Amino acid sequence: MNDALQPSKDRVFIEVRDLTKKFGEQHVLRGVNLTVYRGETLVLIGPSGEGKTVLMKHFIGLLKPDAGSVVVDGVSVHRLRERQLSATRKKFGFLFQNAALFDAMTVAENVAFPLVESGVRDRAEIIKRVHDALEVVDLEEHKEKLPVNLSGGMRKRAGIARSVVANPQCVLYDEPTASLDPVVADVIDQLIMRLQHRFRVTSIVVTHDMKSVFKIANRVAMLKNGVIHFCGTPEELRNSPDADIQDFIEGRSHLQG
Ligand SMILES: Nc1ncnc2c1ncn2[C@@H]1O[C@H](COP(=O)(O)OP(=O)(O)O)[C@@H](O)[C@H]1O
Ligand SMILES: [Mg+2]
Repeated sequence: MNDALQPSKDRVFIEVRDLTKKFGEQHVLRGVNLTVYRGETLVLIGPSGEGKTVLMKHFIGLLKPDAGSVVVDGVSVHRLRERQLSATRKKFGFLFQNAALFDAMTVAENVAFPLVESGVRDRAEIIKRVHDALEVVDLEEHKEKLPVNLSGGMRKRAGIARSVVANPQCVLYDEPTASLDPVVADVIDQLIMRLQHRFRVTSIVVTHDMKSVFKIANRVAMLKNGVIHFCGTPEELRNSPDADIQDFIEGRSHLQG
């Protein structure tokens, strides 16, 4: 980890304290404590259905905690009403799991969409920012294509361009390499790192892909049984004596076949 990424108090971007969340009788988050530092790539791992997506939705106020606090860039997001949330949401770009592109729009129109939504009207500015975002993901020459004519990896890259076009401080990636082949997954990992280095964005990445974890993470947090079961560097994860962590890293399941 380089010096710029050493965690310190004034570098806190997100602070989650004692966050609990139930859906009916299902107690999903049972007291999550997690700090995300500016400029870092934090990878969130853990079994399916543990609440990783639910946790990320709290960062942008798409879900409200039953108890606990979520402070983003000094703002208590859990206290905001819907119409007060837009300033916080503008700090984020998100690539959600099944976030599809709009079929009837070209790649460029898809990428322009968040800008138009957020009220940017200057056509020259839109063109310039869409161009820059597509350049970062190496899709500039495909900008007039419709999503149906792109490969899965290209669609993901277009989604990433759309997530970063408005210059967010933090990008949330929810399983960005799921269902991609290893080579394409590596391209996505490279892009996540490129965005971190070029724009100093904070990145939070949910993944099951342990190769990605060790490639991109500055720190890793593991969500299990509704709490952060582990949080540390990739090295600390690898060397952890905890059996649950080692099983997860090795992809071992305790389900009886
Ligand atoms: N809006 C919702 N209403 C009811 N249950 C939900 C809702 N969102 C998520 N859940 C449940 O919360 C649990 C955690 O979901 P999720 O965060 O998607 O898990 P994952 O760790 O795989 O991302 C799941 O059992 C899911 O069905
Ligand atoms: Mg999920």
